[in-house]
Amino acid sequence: MEMAWWQRGIVYQVYPRSFQDTNGDGVGDLRGIAERLDYLVSLGVDAVWLSPIYPSPMADFGYDVADYCGIDPIFGTMADFDALVARAHGLGLKLILDFVPNHTSDQHPWFLDSSASRTSPHRDWYLWRDPAPDGGPPNNWLSNFGGLGWTLDERTGQYYYHSFLPQQPDLNWRNPAVRAAMADALRFWLNRGVDGFRVDVMWMMIKDDQFRDNPPNPDYTPGGSSHDRLIPLYTADRPEVHDVVAGLRRVLDEYPDRVMIGELYLPIDRLVTYYGPNLDGAQLPFNFQLLLSAWNAATIAAIIETYEAALPAGGWPNWVLGNHDRPRIASRIGAAQARVAAMLLLTLRGTPTIFYGEEIGMEDVPIPPAEVQDPAEKREPGRGLGRDPERTPMLWDGSSGHGFSTGTPWLRFGAQATDAARQAADPTSMLALYRELIALRRGSPALLHGRVAHVVADGDVLSYERHSDTQRLAIFLNLGETPRSIYTSAGKIILSTQGRGETLAGETTLGGSEAIVVEIRASDQP
Ligand code: GLC
Ligand code: CA
Repeated sequence: MEMAWWQRGIVYQVYPRSFQDTNGDGVGDLRGIAERLDYLVSLGVDAVWLSPIYPSPMADFGYDVADYCGIDPIFGTMADFDALVARAHGLGLKLILDFVPNHTSDQHPWFLDSSASRTSPHRDWYLWRDPAPDGGPPNNWLSNFGGLGWTLDERTGQYYYHSFLPQQPDLNWRNPAVRAAMADALRFWLNRGVDGFRVDVMWMMIKDDQFRDNPPNPDYTPGGSSHDRLIPLYTADRPEVHDVVAGLRRVLDEYPDRVMIGELYLPIDRLVTYYGPNLDGAQLPFNFQLLLSAWNAATIAAIIETYEAALPAGGWPNWVLGNHDRPRIASRIGAAQARVAAMLLLTLRGTPTIFYGEEIGMEDVPIPPAEVQDPAEKREPGRGLGRDPERTPMLWDGSSGHGFSTGTPWLRFGAQATDAARQAADPTSMLALYRELIALRRGSPALLHGRVAHVVADGDVLSYERHSDTQRLAIFLNLGETPRSIYTSAGKIILSTQGRGETLAGETTLGGSEAIVVEIRASDQP
């Protein structure tokens, strides 16, 4: 099967602030990322996705962009960026940038002009509305970070809409000038050799043109995000968004071999519409089912089957365990099960994305209130919405700055006694498991492109097979702590989370939290 690099490959997400600092200011930078590319090569990944590196006031740590065609000085210079692209490409790695099209920073020149007067050339680049008759906001739309989604601009007497912070005004994607300007921003980076984009909050890019009120959410339980009080019927997943997505895709398709990944928190039936009616949407609409689901065999089996069945013909799957917005997998399910999760991620069909630190089992780091950085936590404290815990610096080695920085890190290190250097020397470590799994996957036709068959949940044991024309693998994962007996066709364990490798025929015992890959003997293959 002819595969594109983004189908065959593995994506690794770097949160630039937290990966590698080279100048002692406690914040990771582009030179740091370039220095650590060898590590990523030795891990075996194929592409690096960088969270935003553009000039930004950092109200939302770079997801508030003040210039789509620059580099924030905290991360380095354009020369550093070009050097990073060259180094990555020299090592055979692809580089993917984060593109943040839904909103800009309120310090972006477009918004400064837009808010200067009602007749400014950029006025219609954002979503401005008159106050309601009582002077209040134009409708009931909320911010994803708590509170109202509308902020009154005293100077011009109108409200502007922001899906996130007031410092992140939403762009008006119905305006062709916005589309043209953003297409140019994409080309700016494509011309510099960037291999693709992860598109931020893809499903929110267009809002209802009649600005209708969102309906109340009958399932809302107080205590969580106040945004959940309403169903975002008119502010997200609007039909017109697909036209915008297709427009972005057309820009990428002006260049050979580029990929568009979409951030999409949607149920499976809605998610798959983002492949586009003619596969002219995102090539990889992020599948966050494993990031959100309960950790049990029945639920995960159902996810695998529902997702596989929902994919459009020719739509390529993908899987994710963690990112910079959600608790880390090792903290959600524990260290032993995180190994099982690694096996799941790397043996399912489709492109896996690894969040930095996942490969060493990094855990969330509790951040004391006085040290909180994340605006989501600051706006609605104590509700568990903060994202700092999963954004703490990478643990490279056992030195005082953990090999991350010689200065004071922007977020504290965890107390976790582990690091990449220590794990590299330990064949039983999580890092060793990731390397083995990735190496296995790279050389296995069944894992790379074989179909998924016989997905079964039997108590705590989840099992499935991967079949190519030449190879048949059976994968068994024990999502519980109790040993279970399983039955397999004759074959050999070629990888186990617990390091065993023996020949099997019929019944065997799967240890608690053990996962194995069995290669079925050729004579037993169909
Ligand atoms: C996405 C990003 C998140 C950011 C938000 C607003 O969800 O992943 O980090 O805060 O969009 O841009
Ligand atoms: Ca730095």
